[in-house]
Amino acid sequence: MLNIRIEKTQNPKPIPGEDNPLKFGTIFTDHMFIMNYETGKGWHDPRIVEYQPIVLEPSAMVFHYGQEMFEGLKAYRTDEGNVLLFRPDKNAERAMNTNRRICIPEIPAEDFVQAVKELVAVDNAWIPTRPGTSLYIRPFIIATDPFLGVRPSDTYQFIVICSPVGAYYPEGLNPVKIWIEDDYVRAVKGGIGEAKTGGNYVASLAAQVKAHDEGYSQVLWLDGVERKYIEEVGAMNIFFKINGTVVTPKLNGSILPGVTRNSVIELCKHWGLPVEERKVSVDELVEAAKTGALEECWGSGTAAVISPVGHLRFEDNVMQIKDGGIGEVSQKLYDTITGIQLGKVKDEFGWTVQVK
Ligand code: COI
Repeated sequence: MLNIRIEKTQNPKPIPGEDNPLKFGTIFTDHMFIMNYETGKGWHDPRIVEYQPIVLEPSAMVFHYGQEMFEGLKAYRTDEGNVLLFRPDKNAERAMNTNRRICIPEIPAEDFVQAVKELVAVDNAWIPTRPGTSLYIRPFIIATDPFLGVRPSDTYQFIVICSPVGAYYPEGLNPVKIWIEDDYVRAVKGGIGEAKTGGNYVASLAAQVKAHDEGYSQVLWLDGVERKYIEEVGAMNIFFKINGTVVTPKLNGSILPGVTRNSVIELCKHWGLPVEERKVSVDELVEAAKTGALEECWGSGTAAVISPVGHLRFEDNVMQIKDGGIGEVSQKLYDTITGIQLGKVKDEFGWTVQVK
């Protein structure tokens, strides 16, 4: 249990009004959580202070070798005025897997969740309530040793910031267009693909720019070895409904184990839909699109929630899904997951955690 010192700001910022579009990730709340680490001393000095710039040496290791991790989760306000988090224990668990992979000292899961809960409680007035909005929470850890050699740092900062957000994609719940990338790759088994670390996202940028220039929202990655099997989209995991079965790539070491991905699988199974986690080749998709067996496609992620995909392109093959409309399973998943998150749908799985 952390003993968190709270120093509230003397200069609170105006909270955005309900008419603010809350473009994803552009507005930040009044406070942030910080805790330091030093070898020999461990994690220490947990505090909630005014949201402010951080001062680091230009030689800080994070700037040179990218030793950093991050997480993403959301807080919601229910109609009764309660504040709920969605599966924060899953984020804490994944965070520690990431830490192990990139040699960052672990933080006990209960301390991770406590830091998030206390910050959200302090800034709870910033949780927006318009449909489709929430408070996005971004915990991250950076390596801060002033040193230019390559090794794990001896000092770190664990920081949590919050941002009131609307939809991740400007399309909202309208289906997005996705480009299946056949040249660049995101990750390979044995690399860092299953860790939530900035390196995976910087690896995606060149392909994302190329896809944007072609009029596509995001890139769908193929495996880095055979360039044949579907992995994930830039900011979400991917699902298909093929001949009545919900299919998603099996976690193989290079795919991010999404919290929303896991929730989608559990919900679909609960509804009695057949679910397969397995290898899905791009050829299978092209064929399924041709025969009409590809009935639906959607992405899942904390930021994106459920994002229907209406159009996939692989080389010269253009796959139109549901005539570019929203599929029934995608809509039901979106309604159920956001319903549970907002306390409107019964939480049969015990996924929500009350903050206050
Ligand atoms: C999230 O969905 O929370 C993520 O971290 C994806 C991010 C690239 C926005």
